[in-house]
Amino acid sequence: MEKRSKPTAARALVDRQIGRFEAMPPSARERCVDAYQRIAAVYDIIDMPYEYLWKRPLRRYLFARTAGRILDVGIGTGCNIPFYPAGATVTGIDQSGAMLARARKRAAGLGREMTLLERGLPDTRLPAAGFDCVVASFIICCIPAGEQPAAFAELRRLAGREGRIFILDYTLPTQPLLRAFMRATAPMIRSVFAARYDTDAERCFGPAGLRVEESRKFLGGAVTLHILAAEAGESLSAGAAGTREKTPLSAI
Ligand SMILES: C[S@@+](CC[C@H](N)C(=O)[O-])C[C@H]1O[C@@H](n2cnc3c(N)ncnc32)[C@H](O)[C@@H]1O
Repeated sequence: MEKRSKPTAARALVDRQIGRFEAMPPSARERCVDAYQRIAAVYDIIDMPYEYLWKRPLRRYLFARTAGRILDVGIGTGCNIPFYPAGATVTGIDQSGAMLARARKRAAGLGREMTLLERGLPDTRLPAAGFDCVVASFIICCIPAGEQPAAFAELRRLAGREGRIFILDYTLPTQPLLRAFMRATAPMIRSVFAARYDTDAERCFGPAGLRVEESRKFLGGAVTLHILAAEAGESLSAGAAGTREKTPLSAI
């Protein structure tokens, strides 16, 4: 019979450290990736009532204002794809490979040629000022509050001085009944979609060097579209600047 050697003190210490590491709770970002990896296959079914009742008209409204080189951040299963303007060059990114796979399938089904990459905010590794329009629809609500300032700095870097950023997301309405409904459904949104309604993203605009060019509330203020641009005279922040010249997308 094989004789097992006794664990040394050093070995026991390493095992204890590994055990401690494995027992570490997942970060908010990891929980978000896990959530979307899990629900990707059924996401469109769960979201279908929202999609057909009110999301599609808002997507149409938003993309009617876009053109040129478009980046769809957190593209999910690709619900925005049918609304991209003809002739636009579109890139979509998402940190969930399973959601991205659904987007890829949808793009192929619609005959939409586009670049799809498994990447996430704030570390997109995409070129600075590489896009005319950077769209983030229903994704800021998934980004942990502490990571939002870095996410906005990255959006600002990607749009550069000339580009526009489109933030379409949940906001808490002032209408008491609607507000109560959203508060009541918030735990479900948190557990299923790793998201929340009270994103309070506006606090990140100024520090990221962004100004609001246009804001429009929908559904009694439950959803808001912000169109953002770089503050006049604002330069790309040193940390987020990367390469300043416009890099062609073919280089990513
Ligand atoms: C609620 S879904 C919205 C999808 C799509 N934008 C839409 O309008 O239907 C949120 C998506 O954002 C992605 N996401 C969340 N945080 C992200 C991050 N930091 N970077 C990239 N994608 C992210 C999720 O994986 C998920 O696919």
